Amino acid sequence: MRLQDKVALITGSSSGIGKELAIGFAEEGADIIVNYNRREKEAQETASSVRALGREALVIKADVSTKAEVESMVDEAWRRFGRIDILVNNSGITTECSLLSLSEEKWDLIIGVNLKGTFLCDSAVGRRMVRDKIKGHIINISSVNAVEVEVNRGPYNTSKGGVNLLTKSFAAELGRYGIHVNGIAFGSISGTNIAGEFFDNGGIIEKIMDKTPLGYIGTTSECIGPAVFLATDESSYVQGEIIVVDGGLSIQKYGDDLRDQEGER
Ligand SMILES: NC(=O)c1ccc[n+]([C@@H]2O[C@H](COP(=O)([O-])OP(=O)(O)OC[C@H]3O[C@@H](n4cnc5c(N)ncnc54)[C@H](OP(=O)(O)O)[C@@H]3O)[C@@H](O)[C@H]2O)c1
Repeated sequence: MRLQDKVALITGSSSGIGKELAIGFAEEGADIIVNYNRREKEAQETASSVRALGREALVIKADVSTKAEVESMVDEAWRRFGRIDILVNNSGITTECSLLSLSEEKWDLIIGVNLKGTFLCDSAVGRRMVRDKIKGHIINISSVNAVEVEVNRGPYNTSKGGVNLLTKSFAAELGRYGIHVNGIAFGSISGTNIAGEFFDNGGIIEKIMDKTPLGYIGTTSECIGPAVFLATDESSYVQGEIIVVDGGLSIQKYGDDLRDQEGER
């Protein structure tokens, strides 16, 4: 048990990667604060799975883009558990639209949840960790889109680029208090709501698999190991780092479809 009796807040744990991390962390011995915004039933299912593993689960509705809701969520967690040892900023949304057609409202929504939400949660939990001298672990969920942009995903790409630098900025400020702040940039992960919308886009799965050296789309269960690593002292000298978990998707320029043309010339 690598997270025995730790308390972890995982934002957006009503579905997808967040849900899997909540259950994976509980399997390692952690109590879980399950956060959701719209899907209460699914959040309760996550909590039931955590409790079935013998761990405590507290379900809290909070829109991470709203400061008052984030502060109240973190206060409630402190009242119940007396601390948060691990924060995973996982909540995220996307949209498909060209930047030239994008409305101000959509821009604000996506930047609000993905980037401002990460700032608000890091800040709310970080302040209390410093106050209570908790040498905690903060993990911000990013994407390979932070570096290799995807067309018609402008605000999403931008928000995740911001998350990478926000992670480094918090890491620089909080390191002196023994608080670890790192990120994980996922590639394509199946079995989530975001992935569902994206993979509907005809032929995209084949293109991703062609460009991924490991040759397949990642699963949510493959997200757990890197997150547990960053949540424990196994990563004691890792600070301000963004670990890329993408099956190699972002390391090669062209896909396997060009491999047949290679060879000695
Ligand atoms: N799947 C991929 O291929 C992939 C790749 C790279 C990065 N990521 C990142 O991984 C994270 C999880 O995404 P996912 O793929 O697991 O998608 P998902 O299944 O859609 O999960 C997104 C989660 O975010 C929550 N959320 C949305 N708006 C929120 C808000 N305003 N306040 C609080 N929570 C909110 C949702 O809660 P409700 O449903 O209850 O509103 C849901 O639990 C995101 O940050 C995403 O950018 C995913």
